Amino acid sequence: MARSFHITTFGCQMNERDSDSISQILVDKGYRQTESIDDADIVLINTCAVRQKAEEKALTHIGRLSRVKRNRPDLIAGVIGCVAQERGIALFKRFPYLDLVLGPRNIYHLGKFLSQIEEGRRRISCLDLASDPTSVPKCNGYVKGRVKSFLKIMEGCDNFCTYCIVPFVRGREVSLPAERIIDEAKYLVSQGVKEITLVGQNVNSYNTKNKALPTFPGLLRSLDSIAGLKRLRFTTSHPKDLSDELIDLFAELKSLCPHIHLPVQSGSNKVLRLMNRGYTRDDYTDLIKRLRKTRPDIAITSDMMVGFPGETERDFEDSLGLIEEIEFDSLFSFKYSERPGIMALQLPGKIKEKEKQTRLSILQDRQRGITLSKNRSLEGTLQEILVEGPARRGDSQLTGRTLGNKVVNFASRTDLKGRLMRVRIVQGLQNSLRGELLDRQD
Ligand code: 5AD
Ligand code: SF4
Repeated sequence: MARSFHITTFGCQMNERDSDSISQILVDKGYRQTESIDDADIVLINTCAVRQKAEEKALTHIGRLSRVKRNRPDLIAGVIGCVAQERGIALFKRFPYLDLVLGPRNIYHLGKFLSQIEEGRRRISCLDLASDPTSVPKCNGYVKGRVKSFLKIMEGCDNFCTYCIVPFVRGREVSLPAERIIDEAKYLVSQGVKEITLVGQNVNSYNTKNKALPTFPGLLRSLDSIAGLKRLRFTTSHPKDLSDELIDLFAELKSLCPHIHLPVQSGSNKVLRLMNRGYTRDDYTDLIKRLRKTRPDIAITSDMMVGFPGETERDFEDSLGLIEEIEFDSLFSFKYSERPGIMALQLPGKIKEKEKQTRLSILQDRQRGITLSKNRSLEGTLQEILVEGPARRGDSQLTGRTLGNKVVNFASRTDLKGRLMRVRIVQGLQNSLRGELLDRQD
């Protein structure tokens, strides 16, 4: 029987996409994917280092491999992703049973390293941050049977927000060639994918350093013309690079979904400056106004942080005021977490953990009310959804997402996976909508 692999993925969409690429590399080498660690010959953990908690979770998971490896010494165990890059070969010391440590920039070399491990080499690491993602052979993601997929358009980040570890673990920003991206999108569509989400740390700055190449709006236009691609999304956008040309595309392109994830981080100009974000609160609210004018039904989601060094009670009130003013469809919010190497380590005015927790609870409480009323406001409306498959709850419920990326659960006796359907929203809940199936849209 073919040897098998198992991947656990933590972190953002970039990591999810990286895991898809790794799966494809392994499938091309003749391995098959398995859901269970216990019958895998290779176990990989793709890790996130963005906050201390995420890192601790990864380390706990790696620690658990000790028992598995004790029972099966032949198992190949590897850590990839952002914690691999951050901790490097120190991971071999702490977890002596590891065979492989690969930074996110070097995952495409997995096939070569695996062959070396199979030949008996142990403890291989590759942490070259200057590794050029455009020079590796093209690697499609493994998408068998999937309705939607991520597609990476760039690697790394040059923004250096003062709280962020990403530039240190994913390296400098490099845009991937447009032809490669378009080819991959066509391949994904040929495999039955209906929705593609372009991913990168800052997609709006795609190719901005080379004026001769297509910029992000140009790339979106090319992708929009691919026959069979029903839905196009992208993440993540940086407010400082969101152009009018891009905003206009929300009214122009047929496949571009009316949803934008636009992390704001804080509602206080002082904190935004300390974070090195490159925009003011007014710049941000102005962008939101322009987006809503161009596409009134656009869903807007964001990230916000509390307890950044120097954040006073008043700065925090500014953040609360901003979420009330904008009314995000949903908001991911976090307590500021210290990370090795970030510039914010040098800032005065550290906020106590307890205070950060209090602020986070207040913020999340307010946002819960806003999200619920946004979801309720959709009751009675008709929405197009892309059906993804059975809902988690089961009992002949299917699940899909609206153009604004909201989850809709609805009853259906037939399998409609991959189909665009029209539903009537009958109830808006905290984290999802309940719908009633109407008719086919495709
Ligand atoms: N502490 C807390 N949250 C962070 N994020 C990034 N770095 C940190 C940090 N050091 C959050 C930001 C970002 C999201 C992906 O994670 O809000 O947008
Ligand atoms: Fe986490 Fe950032 Fe790495 Fe994504 S890029 S996995 S958010 S540290």
